[in-house]
Amino acid sequence: MAENTLVADRSGELRLDPAAKEERYAVLASQVEAALEGEPDLLAAMTTVACLLHNGLPYYFWTGFYRRVGPDRLLVGPYQGTMGCLEIAFGRGVCGAAALRRETLVVDDVHAFPGHIACDAASASEIVVPVLDASGELVAVFDVDSTLPAAFDDVDRRWLERIVGLLAGKEARPVVWGGGGGA
Ligand code: SME
Repeated sequence: MAENTLVADRSGELRLDPAAKEERYAVLASQVEAALEGEPDLLAAMTTVACLLHNGLPYYFWTGFYRRVGPDRLLVGPYQGTMGCLEIAFGRGVCGAAALRRETLVVDDVHAFPGHIACDAASASEIVVPVLDASGELVAVFDVDSTLPAAFDDVDRRWLERIVGLLAGKEARPVVWGGGGGA
């Protein structure tokens, strides 16, 4: 496994320059791709993406998904980080705005974003990427917060759109329990 860290980079810095980001994302994208190969379940895939990225990038503070559970309603999904709020309506906060517009939003200063939902006061900047299924329907958004101002740029946008695109063929499957008794 490559140089994954939980908090700071080896230098003790959280911030990565664009070249270091490129390098790290390239490794992480291969790890995600390998881990998801042959796994059709969307929830398992989302959980794996959140885990690998959160532990692989030092400036990530909150990393996870809000799933679409209605025409205009998002509910928290697999994430890593501090407590996230549970429900977000389309149009509310950065996640709701990205869901409504179906486009990636990069916010350098969350406090300046109208209607930003402060789940944790430590968050300073944020990126939210829409997750689409194979037919182009919005099924979730992927949200990353950082305690650093302006932590996210076009390198993050490009790699995250690509990584999140790996979820397009996965299914949101109902829990099927055929047994009833078990051992
Ligand atoms: N800040 C987000 C809400 C989700 S949390 O950051 C985990 C927003 O404004 O959409």
